[in-house]
Amino acid sequence: MKLPEPQVAVLNAASATEEQSIDRLAEETGLKPETATQAVFELRDDGLLDVTETESIEYELTEEGRTYVDRGLPEVRLYRAAVDAGAADEPVEMGRVIGTADLDGPEVDIALANFGRKGYGEIDGGELSADGDADTESDPETVALAALADLARAGEASASDVLADVERDVLDQLVSRNLLERHERTVRTVALTDAGVTALMEGVEAAETVDRLTPEMLTSGEWADVEFTEYNVEADAPEVRGGKTHVLRQTAERVKDVLVGMGFQEMDGPHADADFWINDCLFMPQDHPARTHWDRFALDVPPIEDLPDDLVDNVERAHREGVGEDGDGYHSPWSEDFARAIALRGHTTSLSMRYLSGTQVGELEPPQRYFSVEKVYRNDTLDATHLLEFFQIEGWVMAEDLSVRDLMGTFVEFYEQFGITDVQFKPHYNPYTEPSFELFGRHPTTGELIEIGNSGMFRDEVLEPLGVEHDVMAWGLALERLAMLTTGAEDIRDLHGTLADLDFLRGAEVTY
Ligand code: PHE
Repeated sequence: MKLPEPQVAVLNAASATEEQSIDRLAEETGLKPETATQAVFELRDDGLLDVTETESIEYELTEEGRTYVDRGLPEVRLYRAAVDAGAADEPVEMGRVIGTADLDGPEVDIALANFGRKGYGEIDGGELSADGDADTESDPETVALAALADLARAGEASASDVLADVERDVLDQLVSRNLLERHERTVRTVALTDAGVTALMEGVEAAETVDRLTPEMLTSGEWADVEFTEYNVEADAPEVRGGKTHVLRQTAERVKDVLVGMGFQEMDGPHADADFWINDCLFMPQDHPARTHWDRFALDVPPIEDLPDDLVDNVERAHREGVGEDGDGYHSPWSEDFARAIALRGHTTSLSMRYLSGTQVGELEPPQRYFSVEKVYRNDTLDATHLLEFFQIEGWVMAEDLSVRDLMGTFVEFYEQFGITDVQFKPHYNPYTEPSFELFGRHPTTGELIEIGNSGMFRDEVLEPLGVEHDVMAWGLALERLAMLTTGAEDIRDLHGTLADLDFLRGAEVTY
């Protein structure tokens, strides 16, 4: 006969003549108790084992019970004191007896109640008399407690069958006095049936177990004879990681949703662009340190051809002479060739210039709101807050009349959408905005203030050449820095790039 392995083990360990508990069988076969129990019931269903269920009752002395084993029950101690005081001859004042009896606090009440119940004497009008013939030595409760103490000392279970000569009502009384605890449980004992004995004689082997059903097993009919392995729902399984949107991408999407919700339209444009759009339009002097090869990624490609002539003239004039009545400019050389050279954009303010100049979507009438969430490239030194490529949240608003309050209010509203309510502003200098402000946010775990953006009101030197006659407030915010604040990343390099922390990214939750 072929049976699953646990059943073979249980059958071999079972006996026809001696009943065994399932716990014993489990111990003997080395099976887990639940596996042994399952095998026993399967064997019973096949008629190979008999299972008998009995209720077992065990008693255990409580701590109070144990003290009385040593000191005697309180009522017995009271009785002895009463006899010593002569209460067997004539009633004695109760207080006197209690004073001499060896009783602690609550034991007095216990002693008095049981003294009466057991007929050790009488209490009447504050006097106590004792029945001189009471046999406290063979008091059934004392005897039962002593028997249980003996069993406990011998390390044996105080099973009810061992206590056969103790009356059940004595045990009940001790349980109700809280001197014993009763434990009831079902014990299943197992014995081989005749069919089980025969099966063992004829030979029982472990059936081959298979963990998958094959088409061959179905066609050959073999499936009926094999034993399927059980599912082990506790086994370690390889972790399944689905694809997920990168936290930075999720943040970018959310930023776009928020800005669209605030009435902004999206800009796009070239990553590699003419210095003209990246710097010159922004009134950045051509000898500005940020325009040297140290900071920018220059590209060895032909210069830009397509630039509006009048805009080039206007920008050149702004650089040389300034704008307006009392404008000044830089009085430094300005080279058109220099302006036409191509580099990777160091900020997306190049897009704002393209859009504000009217070359992208035509002349714009106020009010206008534009944004982009795009990559910029800087020849910076990599560190915990700097990457060479990162995303900028560019934006600007053109309107009749704008103030710094509008600028600050816009940031407060924007950052609130990400749970950041403590943005701080610091006056700053940009060649193209006046006034200018840097924005700071507090890192949720390090508590440090980190710079999260730069902003300001575009100067006339920027707007006039572009032909813009209204106020424009503008900014460039760092997407990665925002994500550091929302995810708690302490190092920007954990978020993206070759050093990204994959475990962090897998676990990072974006809750907005
Ligand atoms: N271009 C600035 C930067 O990269 C951001 C900025 C844009 C500041 C527009 C003011 C106005 O830091």
